[in-house]
Amino acid sequence: MQSIYRLGAGLLMLAASLAQAQDAHLGRNLAATCANCHGTNGRALGDTVKPLAGVSADKIVAAINDYKSGAQPATIMHQIAKGYTDDQIKLIAAYFAAQPAKK
Ligand code: HEC
Repeated sequence: MQSIYRLGAGLLMLAASLAQAQDAHLGRNLAATCANCHGTNGRALGDTVKPLAGVSADKIVAAINDYKSGAQPATIMHQIAKGYTDDQIKLIAAYFAAQPAKK
């Protein structure tokens, strides 16, 4: 009987460590959803869409909030912005801010 409890505890710890491992990459994984338009790791190629790499997190969060609220009119970002929670946007912004800017 006791060994069943021990197995249960072991599985719980495994689940907890798996959840943590996922969290460590959550910002990067969420930021990957922006890569189609803003480039891999936010380094956009060409001049059509602005790069996000190296842009301060505050600036990105503010821009997304303006798109969300409609304060900043947009062709697409007002729709994309609504697809993320505030916490997710913070993670995404922190990820891009930490990327080396395009030269
Ligand atoms: C389908 C293409 C597309 C995707 C995907 C996309 N963007 Fe954008 N982004 C744009 C376009 C186009 C603009 C210019 C504003 C507009 O017309 O919507 C823009 C503008 C922005 C700006 C303002 C840049 C500036 O300096 O003015 C930020 C910040 C931004 N996007 C962040 C993001 C983030 C974060 C994601 C991922 C969650 C993302 N975008 C996903 C196309 C995209």
